[in-house]
Amino acid sequence: MSSEPLLKVSGVETYYGNIRALAGVDVEVHKGEIVSLIGANGAGKSTLMMTICGSPQARSGQVVFDGEDITKIPTHLIARRRIAQSPEGRRIFPRMTVLENLQMGAGLDDLKYFKEDVEKIFTMFPRLKERQSQRGGTLSGGEQQMLSIGRALMSRPKLLLLDEPSLGLAPLIVKGIFEQIKRLNKEEGLTVFLVEQNAFAALKLSDRAYVMVNGKVTMSGTGRELLADPSVRAAYLEGGHH
Ligand SMILES: Nc1ncnc2c1ncn2[C@@H]1O[C@H](COP(=O)(O)OP(=O)(O)OP(=O)(O)O)[C@@H](O)[C@H]1O
Ligand SMILES: [Mg+2]
Repeated sequence: MSSEPLLKVSGVETYYGNIRALAGVDVEVHKGEIVSLIGANGAGKSTLMMTICGSPQARSGQVVFDGEDITKIPTHLIARRRIAQSPEGRRIFPRMTVLENLQMGAGLDDLKYFKEDVEKIFTMFPRLKERQSQRGGTLSGGEQQMLSIGRALMSRPKLLLLDEPSLGLAPLIVKGIFEQIKRLNKEEGLTVFLVEQNAFAALKLSDRAYVMVNGKVTMSGTGRELLADPSVRAAYLEGGHH
């Protein structure tokens, strides 16, 4: 892979007050890749996702997206560069209907593609079609996760950031969601950077992966390499996570 990466994070440090959550992180995601980030609770995974989106901003280091330095660009303008995030804990709009939530994700192109894109999401997650008039807050956890991903996709992102898409979901639903991610990647060339507790599923899905420990990347490789690595297996894969 010799071309410039779509996303290049270099030497990024992010703080919450005096606490350094990211201690010099380097990560690259190339166009068309699925890359995952695994690591223990509190390692800094969500902080990296949020730093890419500009909230909080990196105190030092650089985030370059599509050749542009976005390190100090405000969050709402980063979204216009077509980086879409499905954050940890989903954060859909609970009082809005499913359809309204999807509408909030669109908007970048004057709703020009709205109908077409909504149909695509409904084909991908038929459950959302059945529930389109239901308020987001009354959906089940799995349905909310589908809505959160659907909403992120409505902006036709160049880069989709997913923070723990499998959190709290039944294995069958996780499987369905991962299959959809893979399909979008294969058929539409969607580039995905995802954080996952379910390291086994993430590594199987991913072209490449990074391991984060205490705000630092300690290891990287292909999904296959990390799946086979004894230290990764011991730390993240033992105990039947699949
Ligand atoms: N708003 C905040 N204020 C202060 N400290 C924070 C804040 N958010 C996160 N942290 C701290 O930063 C560190 C990294 O947190 P982060 O949420 O990025 O971890 P994570 O890898 O996503 O963990 P998890 O797997 O539990 O989601 C943790 O020590 C956490 O306590
Ligand atoms: Mg997190």
